[in-house]
Amino acid sequence: MKTIPSSKVKFFSGEEVPLELHKVRIVQKLNLIPIEERLKAMTEGGCNTFLLTTKTVFLDMLTDSGTNAMSDNQVASMLRADDAYAGSQSYMRLEEAIQEVFNCKYFLPVHQGRAAENIISKVFIKPGDIVPMNYHFTTTKAHIELNGGTIFEIYTDEALKTKSSHPFKGNLDVSKLKELIKKYGPSKVAFIRLEASTNLIGGQPFSIANMREVKKVAQKHGIMIVLDASLIGENAYFIKEREAEFKNKSIKEILHTMIGLVDLTYFSSRKVSSTRGGGICTNNLEINNKMRDLVPLFEGFYTYGGMSIREVEAMAIGLFETLDETIISQSPNFIKFMVNTLDKLGVPVITPPGGLGVHIDAGQFLSHVPQTEYPAGALAAAFFLVSGVRGMERGTISSVRDANGKDVLADIELLRLAMPRRVFTLSQVKYAIDRLHWLYLNRKLVGGLKFYYEPPVLRFFGGKLEPTTPWPQKLVAKFRADFGDSL
Ligand code: F0G
Repeated sequence: MKTIPSSKVKFFSGEEVPLELHKVRIVQKLNLIPIEERLKAMTEGGCNTFLLTTKTVFLDMLTDSGTNAMSDNQVASMLRADDAYAGSQSYMRLEEAIQEVFNCKYFLPVHQGRAAENIISKVFIKPGDIVPMNYHFTTTKAHIELNGGTIFEIYTDEALKTKSSHPFKGNLDVSKLKELIKKYGPSKVAFIRLEASTNLIGGQPFSIANMREVKKVAQKHGIMIVLDASLIGENAYFIKEREAEFKNKSIKEILHTMIGLVDLTYFSSRKVSSTRGGGICTNNLEINNKMRDLVPLFEGFYTYGGMSIREVEAMAIGLFETLDETIISQSPNFIKFMVNTLDKLGVPVITPPGGLGVHIDAGQFLSHVPQTEYPAGALAAAFFLVSGVRGMERGTISSVRDANGKDVLADIELLRLAMPRRVFTLSQVKYAIDRLHWLYLNRKLVGGLKFYYEPPVLRFFGGKLEPTTPWPQKLVAKFRADFGDSL
């Protein structure tokens, strides 16, 4: 049966509506508490959205990791799970899915994406090595550095432009790659890493044309390419939409082309298959065998890798569902709707729309808040306060301090509003847009933040901050004046 994404459904009115091509069969009640109670929750949580409990959150846009909706077929598959320590039939079904969807012969299961990064980094990185990549992800960088490697982000000039119409801002800059290889020598390059739908620059994809160029350089120097496929479904969808050569190709053909251009692929199943877990796959037996022994050491036996067998079943189905355009296009189409609406309203948002979520340019939104007072963190706190919507700070709070204790300022200050797949309805998205628009018009009321408790590592998870002035109270008063007794 041919699947047609909702973006292809035209409305008579001409309005562009990302029509939901699924129905809701299990629901979870949400709480929308009054703004005064949200202020209390925010204060208790140290103005850090990671420290909020879901009882106080209306729309949870913190992440899409492990929060995508599962399909009926995924949930049903969990009941037939063949619970066995070794040789489970559920695992055999997962291997089949890997072969069909990713066209890879060899597979190693792990408990989540960063566990794959641990194994890959342990095996392939020696102290002094370098790893060029289109952009880092926090856990990837940490594992590479833990093993003595240094990362080099060689994105194109377009990548950090907040306003852009470039279809592939996730591309790797091949001339910078050549320079790096020349400078350090190919033997120092542990591997080249490509991250699909590049998370921290706004879920931006790369093209197959770019992958082919990278491959040419890698092949010439005998360097391995590693693909982070956590968001590969969305990247494949963007290739079909934006890269002319692939307009009439199936998602399966696109996925096989992408994976055929790299040596090793790994992923977080918390994203790609809407479950938990993760994996590493390759068609190169030698590469596979170098990593294989670490699976039972760090994860669990070869046929479950730290995952519950129920997850293994649902993961296999979730991978097959990645081939369905209506499923992988749902989140990009909702994101596109939200980005385009906010853009028209003048709210500074990263364009073009990507995968994963909507990214607000907090540096511009709160241009009166100095970067040392964390505009992205302040915006995350203010947006929760006025809406109950929880986003994630991706700016200087997510960065570190240098040897002198000074903040290393982030390249861009972003508030990420993740769009987990098939979780929210369009009216909920419209509510988030409405509150964000109001906040933008009242942005001058928002001030900065400062730490009163700062953990030495990964401070964005557990750090606690307070407002530099009593701005939250002013925002609450203005909200009440404009919205009356509305929640
Ligand atoms: N790679 C990418 C591109 C990711 O986005 C993530 C996780 C990982 C690796 C690590 O996978 O969480 O299963 O260990 N991203 C989550 C997020 C945490 O919120 O974007 P994991």
